[in-house]
Amino acid sequence: MSTAATVTSEATTSGTLDVAAIKAEFPLLQREVHGRPIVYLDSGATSQKPQSVLDAMDRYYAEINANVHRGAYHIAERATTAVESARAALGRFLGAPSAEEVVFTKNATESINLVAHSWGRTNLTEGDVVLLTMLEHHANIVPWQQLAAERGVEVRWIPVDANGRLDLSDLDALLDGVRLLAVTAASNVTGDLPPVRRLADAAHAVGATVLVDASQWVPHQPTDVTAWDADFVAVTGHKMLGPTGIGALWGRRELLDAMPPFLGGGSMIQNVTVDGFTPADVPTRFEAGTQPIAEIVGWHAAIDYLSALGIDAIAAHERDLTGYALRTLADRFGDDLAIHGPALAADGTVEDRGGTLSLAYRDVHPHDLSQVLDQHGVCVRAGHHCAKPLMKVLGVNATARASLYLYNDESDVDALADALADAGDFFAF
Ligand code: ALA
Repeated sequence: MSTAATVTSEATTSGTLDVAAIKAEFPLLQREVHGRPIVYLDSGATSQKPQSVLDAMDRYYAEINANVHRGAYHIAERATTAVESARAALGRFLGAPSAEEVVFTKNATESINLVAHSWGRTNLTEGDVVLLTMLEHHANIVPWQQLAAERGVEVRWIPVDANGRLDLSDLDALLDGVRLLAVTAASNVTGDLPPVRRLADAAHAVGATVLVDASQWVPHQPTDVTAWDADFVAVTGHKMLGPTGIGALWGRRELLDAMPPFLGGGSMIQNVTVDGFTPADVPTRFEAGTQPIAEIVGWHAAIDYLSALGIDAIAAHERDLTGYALRTLADRFGDDLAIHGPALAADGTVEDRGGTLSLAYRDVHPHDLSQVLDQHGVCVRAGHHCAKPLMKVLGVNATARASLYLYNDESDVDALADALADAGDFFAF
């Protein structure tokens, strides 16, 4: 079954994205809300899906729907091939040395839970330290807190400054006794991009294992798990144009081979008797039960779409657009609008940050702000973004977060700014 992307030839020209052509390929971006064209600025929560992803999932159900790794008939073999070619495509997209190191999961949260339950419960005992950063999403906090409660493991934190930048001045001391470093590659609140390779080198120097939560990185930046020198990397499909309900864990082969299964059931065994079971090899060992096959096929189409545009071109586009947004919002709102996270450099260029802009607009509550923006068709996420420890350091309960992606352009940023100006009028300041 072909899952080739149907990116129009106009979508990239010499490495530059043609955003109008890209937008035209996303059905949802054609609709209106409240009588206005939709301006979707919440890709940090979930991305929209191009027609090629929707078509690939439809074709799977219409043409080759059958369970995988079981049937010896034509469509079952085609379905199995579709799943395994998706695994190979994802492995290449992540720079994985082998597709067999790619385990399908439900999402990045399940990937991290897999590591905590399987690797963590095998390798960590009382007094061992798990080192996190204050930038982490709850998905990369709670599984370790659960392990801490169960095993007496200590959870320790790399601090951030008042603007949410990682403070690595005490890194050597913080690494004392650490067995696992679990770090995000891109903050879902501030857009900060921690220096993953530097952190991995420091963690490995004390014998620690390194897990990277790459949920907010992989959709936007070129990924190379080998260049990071990571041991585990958690990713999710729905933030990178794929469907919900599908994610993956990449892990070093020797680590995965030594890990017991996380979920038990069909598919993940080599043999079962009344006395017990023998687990299957990696990656099947970690894929119990029927997998979300249509979602895997859809994710493959999303990877093809991103690859056809070029992840370098996507990263460059987002960097330019982030700079435009930071400059536009600063020019139009000055001190009335604060943006948490890395600011523009003195020369006006964008520092190492993603296109995630957490806004504080005078004293307007982010939920009220988001409701007014919604009346203009502008979709932003308001709330704590599942990062409550970071919110506390930033001194807020919530922010209104605009997050940019490949289908956004300057007109979307202008629409956000116009809607913010109207919100200022509405709240009478
Ligand atoms: N983790 C997603 C977000 O940041 C849901 O919005």
